[in-house]
Amino acid sequence: LFANLPLLPADPILDLGRVFAIDNRPHKINLGIGVYLDEQGVTPIMAAVAEAEARVETAEDTKAYLPPRSVPGFADNIARLALGQDSDLPGSGRLGVIQTPGGCGALGVSGGLMRRSGIKTVVMGTPTWSNHRPVYTAAGLAVRMIPYLDRATGGVDFAGYRAAVEQLGPDDVLLLHGACHNPTGVDLSPEQIDIIADIAAARGFLPMIDTAYHGLAHGLDADAYILRSFAQRVPELLISYSCSKNFGLYRERTGALIAIGKSPDRAAVLESHMLDLAREFYSMAPAHGALIVADILGSPELEANWRSELATMQRSIQARRNLLADALEKTEVGDSLSYVRDQNGMFSLLPLSPEQTQRMRDTHAVHMAASGRINVCGIRADNVDYLAGALASTMIE
Ligand code: LMR
Repeated sequence: LFANLPLLPADPILDLGRVFAIDNRPHKINLGIGVYLDEQGVTPIMAAVAEAEARVETAEDTKAYLPPRSVPGFADNIARLALGQDSDLPGSGRLGVIQTPGGCGALGVSGGLMRRSGIKTVVMGTPTWSNHRPVYTAAGLAVRMIPYLDRATGGVDFAGYRAAVEQLGPDDVLLLHGACHNPTGVDLSPEQIDIIADIAAARGFLPMIDTAYHGLAHGLDADAYILRSFAQRVPELLISYSCSKNFGLYRERTGALIAIGKSPDRAAVLESHMLDLAREFYSMAPAHGALIVADILGSPELEANWRSELATMQRSIQARRNLLADALEKTEVGDSLSYVRDQNGMFSLLPLSPEQTQRMRDTHAVHMAASGRINVCGIRADNVDYLAGALASTMIE
């Protein structure tokens, strides 16, 4: 029966962890999957998360189902975090929000919602996260790529991006990244965000903002600029929100899909379809991580502790960027990659071919995605000179 199914290659990002684990060279460096690592190379359980988790476990006396929309206090607090304490959207009735299994679950539900709404095409800047195309193709939507990264400057090709966005219409979705673009680390500036949001309002296409690194570029409020600017300017908006990185809850699969409707009635319709799609796919999201987030965001003291830990993570990521740029400047690469200093979040895209990334792994024990994407969290004071030397010899060869 299954004879016509071909064997598929492993996922290009998820498989990096397996390959790294079986590399027994002691000097190996992990620049692969997008997971925060501290200066000791550890992905810590945040202290606020550990405290909330203990409270959740003490309070929990049953594993019976919880409401499919959200565990108590999760979805509404995520909307507050994304849209801001002062946003009038929650009180306006124009919000539909459901808890999802991570950001990826939110993307999947959003794809179903788009297909049911008659949307034909999801338009993405080049390059984008390697799972974006599969998620939306699986939802039956066409995917079209437009310019985004200017590889020469390591910044945004804003003229090319804007010109392509100006051609979009009501059958299209424009997929944007929240702060900390994956895989490039190159974000739109606030001025550029406002321009694109105004074009969305004028042309009538639907913006969808994939938010997976909130707080890791310049802090929670600064990073939410894109969400809040679009929310003010367009009548309808979708936001997927992941708690994997900013709460360190990766394996707990904790996220949300937020829909802003034109009116309270439209928002109710959107939320009803989001719940219906979730029921079709997986019935309801797992509770554990969402209960932890709800506990943190429901306690001012714990929320303050979490915010401060998140800020420490953000500063540590920036410090790792500076370490790499400083070390590269001492090699033949010079300042040609100095843009890694100014990019945001965990990722930068280095100008390496798949063959060069393979050589980085085989010859130097440096593991990264074949695209040349690196997670800067694998950089430490005690490995950065070795890494810079390996990069220089691979790039100059
Ligand atoms: C990544 O891009 O490395 C992370 O978002 C993890 C994933 O699921 O791909």
